[in-house]
Amino acid sequence: MNTVMNNKSATQHAISLEDKYGAHNYHPIPVVLERAEGVFVWDVEGKQYFDFLSAYSAVNQGHGHPKIIAAMLEQAQKLALTSRAFYNDSLGEYEKYITQYFGYDKVLPMNTGAEGVETALKLARKWGYEKKGIAPNEAKIVACVGNFHGRTITIVSMSSDSDSYGNFGPHTPGILKVEYNNASALEKILASDKTIAAFLIEPIQGEAGVVIPDDGYLKQCAEICKKYNVLLIADEIQSGLGRTGKMLACYHENVRPDILILGKALSGGLYPISAVLADDEIMLTIKPGQHGSTYGGNPIAAKVGMAALAVLKDEQLVENAETLGKILLNELNAIKNIRPDVVKRVRGKGLFAAMVIAETNGKTAWDVCLALKENGLLAKPTHGDTIRFAPPLVINEEQLRECIAIIKKVIAGF
Ligand SMILES: Cc1ncc(COP(=O)(O)O)c(C=O)c1O
Repeated sequence: MNTVMNNKSATQHAISLEDKYGAHNYHPIPVVLERAEGVFVWDVEGKQYFDFLSAYSAVNQGHGHPKIIAAMLEQAQKLALTSRAFYNDSLGEYEKYITQYFGYDKVLPMNTGAEGVETALKLARKWGYEKKGIAPNEAKIVACVGNFHGRTITIVSMSSDSDSYGNFGPHTPGILKVEYNNASALEKILASDKTIAAFLIEPIQGEAGVVIPDDGYLKQCAEICKKYNVLLIADEIQSGLGRTGKMLACYHENVRPDILILGKALSGGLYPISAVLADDEIMLTIKPGQHGSTYGGNPIAAKVGMAALAVLKDEQLVENAETLGKILLNELNAIKNIRPDVVKRVRGKGLFAAMVIAETNGKTAWDVCLALKENGLLAKPTHGDTIRFAPPLVINEEQLRECIAIIKKVIAGF
């Protein structure tokens, strides 16, 4: 009894510390995690949960993957950070590895996803002026309604979510917005304005609630961009690296973006690593002194990045996401068919799925997530009524079926 009380107070203590001393820029599910392995996390009370968020798809390779940890520790003990004032003996090896992995001439390494997106936007503007011949300070970027690309001022200037952009103005100029999943709207904008340098898109909108466009949309976008000499920038920070059952979500439509942005699972959750890939015509528009980051391309990131990418292939995590994703989607749909009064819609591709919850008797997606937690599964609502399901890609079928049973039981209880 005493241990239970102590553990409960450990939960309360950790939450109250964050509440008192931390900025209130998040609203976490009330669980305090202290340990993780593979698909599981444990809280300070010793309770085990399935992680069905994977740190917003950063932990595709599972928590604490031993090969990625080994690469990280070995390099940390040897050489952690040099800055880019000097060369280091890991970066070139990583650059060769990742460019060959995805088939681009060059990579520009950064740390967070938002920095990756900023880098892509800077590259697009540079290319717009120096290659496309856009008049000085006229370059524009087209973004999609409902996007999420991060939290910097320029990125929130592209957002259509008032929580993201409200009272953070003045916003960055040179941004146009187009409806998502509407290729003719994109064509109309591109045809009407020759100062557009790039079109930025998430192949699947993650934060918006795993919004999947119609088949063929991305391919059409790529063709339209080509027709109007506009760069296609794919933000695959959340949708990439196996999550949707292909290495990149763009591969579902055989699309090769002109600029590819990666982050999150590029480290398997161990380190903030992002990368922007492009060919020379675009990448070499940025010259020494024009962009960079103290930690970008550091030796630990280089080794961790290579290990994380190797694990995706060695353990066939893309194939696993594809196979198990079909089961997940079928079963979530079956749950919806039993309780259409609670589950309004189900969406999914690979192990990237979402359930839209109808407000029943004043109960919301948040309440569903609290009940899932009580039953040993952690997920978080996005945009109020939508719950995203994105387990680590190392999950096996038995574990997945256990998770589906939990979701089924919780929905049945509403
Ligand atoms: C599609 C997409 N782009 C960019 C970001 C921003 O990444 P970070 O939080 O590492 O800055 C996110 C984060 O959720 C994302 O989902």
